[in-house]
Amino acid sequence: MTFNFDRIIDRSHTQSYKWDQSEKLFGNKDILPLWVADMDFESPPAVQLALQNRVSQGIYGYTIKSEAYTNAIIRYFKRRHRWELKPQWLTDSPGIVTSLSIAVDLFSEPGSSVILQSPVYYPFYDVIRMNNREVAINPLVIRNGRYEMNFDQLEQLMIDGSKLLLLCSPHNPGGRVWEREELLQLGALCIQYGVTVVSDEIHCDLILPGHQHTPFASLSEEIANLTITCLAPTKTFNLPGLQSSFIVANNSEMKRKFDYRLKTLSLHMAHYLAQDAVQAAYDEGEEWLDELLIYLDGNVRVAISYLEEHLPEVKVMKPEGTYMIWMDCRGLGLDVSGLKELMFLRAGVAFSEGSVFGLEGQGWLRINLACPRSILQEALERFCRAAKPTL
Ligand SMILES: Cc1ncc(COP(=O)(O)O)c(C=O)c1O
Repeated sequence: MTFNFDRIIDRSHTQSYKWDQSEKLFGNKDILPLWVADMDFESPPAVQLALQNRVSQGIYGYTIKSEAYTNAIIRYFKRRHRWELKPQWLTDSPGIVTSLSIAVDLFSEPGSSVILQSPVYYPFYDVIRMNNREVAINPLVIRNGRYEMNFDQLEQLMIDGSKLLLLCSPHNPGGRVWEREELLQLGALCIQYGVTVVSDEIHCDLILPGHQHTPFASLSEEIANLTITCLAPTKTFNLPGLQSSFIVANNSEMKRKFDYRLKTLSLHMAHYLAQDAVQAAYDEGEEWLDELLIYLDGNVRVAISYLEEHLPEVKVMKPEGTYMIWMDCRGLGLDVSGLKELMFLRAGVAFSEGSVFGLEGQGWLRINLACPRSILQEALERFCRAAKPTL
């Protein structure tokens, strides 16, 4: 291994969303935080260097989008995902959730219903509700220990009039990497019922061995035409604080509307720091990413085998992608507040409590594994030790 993911880096007192809010959010300052999805690893060296160079210029002026940046994105998606993007399909946005919210506002009517598949990343609910739309839930079903889409119910929601669907691909939480056939089936329904898809593919690079991400819009021209894909290097290379993402829209009318709204909100300017960092990540970060994926796969194995041995009442859904594990804790017999008390007060760990992902997540917890293995082990030990007496 060239990169040392075992190294513990003290992130406290760095204005870290993850490390500096424990007292405020959980009532316990001595918590190991394995919740919000950022990683406790340094970004690839090329990214750090690009940022240092940019900072050293000393004048932080308005910035234009560079061709080199766009080309880096295009080259990367061709190399890594065999997806050939065109520069005119791309628009930058400060964040994926910003794009989701804009897309809900632009591509659905006020008061109409927007489909999501629960349990899902909680801002999906917010961007629907806060734009005064209704959430149309298609609960995922567990088959053979993993989530699958319920196509019958999905079709019914479309028959009932939903014209927009938010897809999470790979899926957070649960770590499903949707297979080509599943996405084709979803695409066929969207074509049949004229449903627009906003596909959040932020986790597309975090794919564990044996699985392959399929960009939804790469399936066919017809599917691309009804899709806005939201992408970012921020999860992959641990840059979420740089607030950089982009959308891909082959449909020029949808893209025009999206661009116009970004301009209206004045969110269209290039980020002084992010651009060079993103370019470096895509151009020079893949060796780091390949090692990261090996390390994360190791963390998944450690977590699953530790929990199987020490707390068999908890059942882990084996992830295919993302750096999270999703575990069914209903065997512990605790309600939502009981699970919070167990984590925050008795164990001194913060995992994400499952009901925030939807009703179907009640009784589940999500652990962010993107940390040095020794921290993960310590968190698992604390959790299992504290959980045992409640059984
Ligand atoms: C599925 C998904 N979408 C979007 C985001 C956040 O994206 P951004 O910070 O660009 O809004 C996350 C972060 O955890 C996520 O898991």
